[in-house]
This record gives sequence, structure tokens and C-alpha cells, in this order.
Amino acid sequence: MQKKPLVRHPKLQKLSREHHQILVFALRLKKGLANNVDLKRLANYTKYILDGLIIPHMEEEENILLNLLPNTDKKKQILDDHNGFRAFSKTENFSTDSLTKLFEKLEQHIRFEERIYFESIQVKHFEIINQIKWSDYENLSCMTWNDPFWK
Ligand SMILES: [Fe+2]
Ligand SMILES: [Fe+2]
Repeated sequence: MQKKPLVRHPKLQKLSREHHQILVFALRLKKGLANNVDLKRLANYTKYILDGLIIPHMEEEENILLNLLPNTDKKKQILDDHNGFRAFSKTENFSTDSLTKLFEKLEQHIRFEERIYFESIQVKHFEIINQIKWSDYENLSCMTWNDPFWK
């Protein structure tokens, strides 16, 4: 049986676009690690993406979307993951092991949000989600970086 492609609620599309970019970042990090790129270069880019994309994305996800929705185990899992990413960004412990865990955890987190959480809330809470107003700002600065170590 063929899988139906996911159709995203229009109000969730901003987050989905950012998810795509976070996955691009995770893939770049994975490649950099596989090619033994100098850790300093990976750390610089990782810090840039955490501060410029991932942290602001999580803030908006929490303040504008999750705040409107009931507390469930799935929502709790997302908030726990977010706190893990925040704690990681504060430690600035950018070792091969921690960066490997970071890209794995990001892939897992986004898969969960896209395939499980968003799929369920956009049906159950369609009207609530319809009321959302995002700022015009998109957290999509990660496509410009002058050290393309992943190539
Ligand atoms: Fe997200
Ligand atoms: Fe998230």
C-alpha cells in the first residue's frame, strides 16, 4: 500500500518549513562528522544554527502553538526534548559524541512532531490552530554560511 503524503494545516506550514531546514542542518552535521571535519568548524555552525534557528523555532512553537493546546504525553515529550536542546546549547560541549547525539535527537524530534504530533493536532484542534497568528519573521537564516564543510 502506498503511503499518502502528509498534508499540513496551512497555519503549521511555517513550522514545517523550519523543520525542513533543521533537518538540512542535521544532515550537514552528520556529513561533517563522517568526514572528520575539524570540530571547531562544526561547533561554529552548530552554535549559529542553535541560536539563529532552533532556539527561536522552539520558542515560537511553545509560545504560539503548544500554549493553546491541552497537556498530553505527546506535548510533554516535545517540551522535554526542547529543554534538552536548550541545556545542550548552554553547555557548549561540542564533542564528536555530543554532536552525534544532537543530530540524531533532532531528526527524531522533528519526525515525532511532523508525523505524530502535527498529524494528530491538525485534525483534533483544527479550529484552534486556525486562529494562530505568526509573526512575519521566519527563522531561516541557516542557508547562508560561508564555510560549507559539508560539500
Ligand atoms: Fe518544531
Ligand atoms: Fe520542537
